[in-house]
Amino acid sequence: MERKNVLVPENDLARQRVFEEKIRGMFEAREAHPVACVDTFGCQQNVADGQRIMGMLEACGFTFTEDSKEADLVLLNTCAVREHAEQRVFGNLGILSHTKKENPEQVICVCGCMAQEERVSKRIKESYRQVDLVFGPHALWKFPELLWKVYESRKRVFAVDDEHGTIAEGIPVVREAGVKAWVSIMYGCNNFCSYCIVPYVRGRERSREPECVLQEVRELVSAGYKDITLLGQNVNSYGNDLEIDYHFPDLLREIDQIPGDYRIRFISSHPKDATHQLFDVMAGSQHVCHELHLPFQSGNNRVLKEMNRRYTRESYLDLIRYAKSKMPDLVLTSDVIIGFPGETEEEAMDTVSLVQEVEFDALFTFIYSPRPGTVAAAMPDPVPRAEKQKWFDKLLEVQNDISSRLHAAYVGTTVRVLVDGESDDEAFPLASRTEGNRLVRIKGDKSLIGQFVDVKVTGSNTWALYGQAQ
Ligand code: SAM
Ligand code: SF4
Ligand code: F3S
Repeated sequence: MERKNVLVPENDLARQRVFEEKIRGMFEAREAHPVACVDTFGCQQNVADGQRIMGMLEACGFTFTEDSKEADLVLLNTCAVREHAEQRVFGNLGILSHTKKENPEQVICVCGCMAQEERVSKRIKESYRQVDLVFGPHALWKFPELLWKVYESRKRVFAVDDEHGTIAEGIPVVREAGVKAWVSIMYGCNNFCSYCIVPYVRGRERSREPECVLQEVRELVSAGYKDITLLGQNVNSYGNDLEIDYHFPDLLREIDQIPGDYRIRFISSHPKDATHQLFDVMAGSQHVCHELHLPFQSGNNRVLKEMNRRYTRESYLDLIRYAKSKMPDLVLTSDVIIGFPGETEEEAMDTVSLVQEVEFDALFTFIYSPRPGTVAAAMPDPVPRAEKQKWFDKLLEVQNDISSRLHAAYVGTTVRVLVDGESDDEAFPLASRTEGNRLVRIKGDKSLIGQFVDVKVTGSNTWALYGQAQ
């Protein structure tokens, strides 16, 4: 697809700002003060989308609440990656039929990855009549126009066409106040891992122009954000679709040159495209954290092939060795799937042994969940859930032991952390993060929030470190 067809034209975007004004004007004429409840599920990419949706709602005159009962508009920004995520959304929609009964004027919207699945939008159309507006990630930039249509016609609106996907710059954003910010550097995925729904709902890879990303990071740094995460399903293929020879390490290097006291992180990386050059840039940078989330999914080559991951256990381990040789302080995390169709116990234990070999600081572990429409969903899957659960429990036991051991090694050391908020532990009331994104609960005054401080680590467990601000 040609680049010019990927970028949403400026006048189409400008038209959306006109719809925002119309909606704002409609509420002003009624002397109403509309309130919206936005509930986001899923990954950080969805969180970033949720912030843009809130930006558009704010421009339409809305303020925000977390209570769907008092909201004039409820929006569920959904995730389709596992069945459980979908069930939660349908559960919430059931509850919303009651709030709508009490407030028939309430507008209910469903967007995000589930909305882009034909199976789901059909089910909502037929069985969840309380829903007024359904739109997928491709239509996100048109939200003001779609919402206006709902208010004007009071008819149900569905914008779920299957598209290649676009890039829309300049959508307003409501960011979480504080120190952390998300920046999408690209959208979509081309990889079609056989278990995964994401490429079907998010379209093909599209990279934002480097200057747009750089400008956004500059603005965030000058607004005081100190922990900025670059987002993409596979940031290592950033730039492949640009008309210039410019790739993720080039972008990282340029971002790193922006002056200021801030950290840069990125998720996710695909091992098939992670290069030595990336690790060299990380090692030589000033702001890029020595933290790497490199999902390996399985430690068995047959399973990796069936998953269509396009690397091997050996090539993965080589990458890790190289990255650690360049950054001995590297904090490593990964994603793992247990119970892929046809996986045997022995193959699952290859995953456990890879975990033992690498010693990840933390792991995001999932039991395989069939996603209708994907290649793996059609594969025979004879192993009972209870058996998969046993393998999964073994993996967790091994990982928990590694995490608590690695965390215990911090005790007695001093780490530089960014204090990012309050913690739910009375004895250690502040939450902070190390460069490697380890959670450190600390004693100290609230005035430290937003600052980098040195902390003497005094305790640890599997999930966190504990300490005292120096
Ligand atoms: N693009 C990222 C990557 O490839 O590393 C990850 C995206 S996905 C949203 C996050 C994780 O969910 C994946 O790394 C995988 O471990 C898990 N996942 C994806 N599809 C799954 C499925 N059908 N069942 C279980 N876990 C799944
Ligand atoms: Fe899904 Fe694979 Fe794409 Fe990640 S790289 S989003 S796991 S298809
Ligand atoms: Fe879920 Fe979509 Fe993210 S499926 S994990 S919200 S890209």
